[in-house]
Order: sequence, then structure tokens, then C-alpha cells
Amino acid sequence: MARRIRKPNGFFITLEGPEGSGKSTQADFLAVALKKAGFQVIQTREPGGTKVAEAVRHILLNPSKGESITAETEALLILAARSQHVAHLIQPALDRGAIVLCDRYFDSTLAYQGFGRGLDLNWLTAANNGATGGLIPDLTLLLDLPVSVGLARRRHARGTTNRLDRETERFHRSVRRGFLSLAKQDPRRIRIIRARRSIPAVRAEIETIVLNWITTRRGHRS
Ligand SMILES: Nc1ncnc2c1ncn2[C@@H]1O[C@H](COP(=O)(O)OP(=O)(O)O)[C@@H](O)[C@H]1O
Ligand SMILES: [Mg+2]
Repeated sequence: MARRIRKPNGFFITLEGPEGSGKSTQADFLAVALKKAGFQVIQTREPGGTKVAEAVRHILLNPSKGESITAETEALLILAARSQHVAHLIQPALDRGAIVLCDRYFDSTLAYQGFGRGLDLNWLTAANNGATGGLIPDLTLLLDLPVSVGLARRRHARGTTNRLDRETERFHRSVRRGFLSLAKQDPRRIRIIRARRSIPAVRAEIETIVLNWITTRRGHRS
């Protein structure tokens, strides 16, 4: 099914990067800053964002006793969740003219399931386009930092780890390389943020980038 792609007023902004890079922390700050600037903001995350998608998230993050999840199943579950998310939350919000701020989206699928697990990138891209009607973010902030720093932050913050956190360092290094390679291919959309710096430093850079970007885009549209 070809879903109509229309972003007449809204902007679709995603935050990407490895575990512990500060996506959730910075998404909260950015949502507040954008609301203060007068924008309607919908803050969401993947996998999740709708009832069905959150149920899929639960399957993905919690180990199934006695039955491993294949890489293909993992990818298709993520895409199933995304299809619900785009149809029921993201696209309607963009149609209303909101800024949708999403913690992880398709770049994570390419980085984790493609570069990390070794699934075919063309297959993932085609399946993703089918699931989303080809909806691509307008702007993506890639929070980049060394794998060990991110994982240490996560362990420190939570005291526990989920199924993906427990993957090998080698897996997480492939994921990081994947993100950086995607940014290199699409530098206009994907901005690399050096996320090892302090929370306020990262926050200030993100706010400047996003507010300047919106000003420029608005100029183009009017
Ligand atoms: N720039 C930073 N420097 C130090 N600690 C940070 C920074 N950004 C986030 N953290 C902390 O690291 C942990 C993981 O951050 P989080 O925002 O949940 O990352 P993510 O959503 O990317 O996994 C949290 O405890 C958070 O407070
Ligand atoms: Mg997070």
C-alpha cells in the first residue's frame, strides 16, 4: 500500500545514536525549547508510540524464555511497530503542523539490524518504505560517542541492562560505524553531535542547530 506522504507544515526530527548517548535526555530538553519557541511538539520514541507498537517493544526488549528472536523477526517486529507509529501518531501530527520529535527511527534499523546484525540494507530499506509509505525525517541529530562511554552511562543509570544492551562490544562498535556511515552518505539530513561532552554543552549545540534549521526551512516554505 502506498501511503500518501505529506508534510505541509510539520517537521519530522529524529534523534539517533547508540545506547547511553543521551537521546532521551536531549529529546526532553529539545521538546521544552521548541515549545517555548511557540511550536506544537509531539515527543515520541521507537519502538513504541502507540498501544500496539508498545506491545511490540515489550517483546523486543525482554528475552523470550527458551526461544531466541531471529534477526529477521527482530527487524520485522520493529517495522510493524513503526508502521503503526507512522499511521496513528507521526503522520497525523505532521498533518496538523506539529513538530514530531522521535527518539530513534529508520537510521537505527539500518545501524542495528543492518550494520549490527548483518541483514541486507536494501531489503531493510525496501521493507521500511513499505511500512512507512516512505516517510523520511527532515532532520536527524546523531549523538555520537565511543561505545564504552555510552554503555558505562547506561549501566550506571539503570543498574540493569536489556537484551540489546547485553550484545557484545563488537556489535555496538559495528552499530556506531553504521550510524557514522549513514551520516556520511546524507550529511544534509544527518548532523553529527559530539555526545561525549557535558549535558549542557550538547543541549546548547542541539538547540542552536534545530532553531537555525527551522528558521531556514520556514524561509524556503513561505
Ligand atoms: N552528556 C552527558 N554526560 C554525562 N552523562 C550523560 C550525558 N547525557 C546523558 N547522560 C546520562 O547517561 C544516561 C543515559 O542517557 P540517556 O539520555 O538515557 O541516553 P539514551 O536515551 O541515548 O540511551 C543517563 O543517566 C543520563 O543522565
Ligand atoms: Mg533513551
